[in-house]
Amino acid sequence: MAQVTIGVFDSGVGGLTVARALREALPGARLLYLADTAHVPYGGRPLAQIRDFALQIIDFLFTQGADAVVMGCNMSAASGADEVAHARFPRPVFAVVDPGSRAAQAVTRGTVGVIATQGTVTSGIYGRTLRALGVAQVHEQACPAFVPLVERGLDDGPEVEAAVAAYLAPLRDAGVDTLVFGCTHYPYLRAPIARFLGPGVALVDPADLLAAEVAAAFPAAVVPAPTEHRFFCSGAPDSLLREGPRLLGLPIPRVERVDVPVEQVVTF
Ligand code: DGL
Repeated sequence: MAQVTIGVFDSGVGGLTVARALREALPGARLLYLADTAHVPYGGRPLAQIRDFALQIIDFLFTQGADAVVMGCNMSAASGADEVAHARFPRPVFAVVDPGSRAAQAVTRGTVGVIATQGTVTSGIYGRTLRALGVAQVHEQACPAFVPLVERGLDDGPEVEAAVAAYLAPLRDAGVDTLVFGCTHYPYLRAPIARFLGPGVALVDPADLLAAEVAAAFPAAVVPAPTEHRFFCSGAPDSLLREGPRLLGLPIPRVERVDVPVEQVVTF
């Protein structure tokens, strides 16, 4: 039987948190990872533009042989790209927001905080989804400094701690008992966030439940197998080459360049 191929994309290295969870849940799958580094950060961009980028990238990953695409980017879900993709493409497209919300609903005592990019917060997608699941209180907080910090390779230290304190103090004061990482870059900041909020707040990474759902759809890929993953970027490859191996736990020997909008692929 042919190897299962899963496409994953994000604006940068954030989606590697999703790729890592997929690798653990589907060790037999081949991954195609695309970092849209020409447009990172996505956070302040209009959702219509993010939807255009996402649909181009999904199309590209399918043409490269993906059996399914996992949107490793909350902004894409906030833009509604998965709904358009379901109507446009015959193969499955998975998004992070639903599994992330269900995972939070399962552990919360009633007050959930969501940290995300400005675009995701403005869309209100987590608030709507969590409230539809019966969560009584939802507090959403945009954290625009986090993505640039992570793309620079910073995951702790004074600069990170200052940003964490500034963004999370309102959530702590609101009494959240559960915090959702509503941006795939943010799990890299888990340690300083956990220190700031303390052990009483459950931290939810949507990637875990999402990966379990993809594994349920592709049981053949749950069996470990030798795989050769491929990595693409639309702009500078630096963050992927520098931070990728550490974040993903895998060597990234080469990154292929692809324009978004997709025109051609060039290998570095
Ligand atoms: N990591 C992406 C997300 O989950 C986008 C981050 C960004 O580029 O602002 O939304």
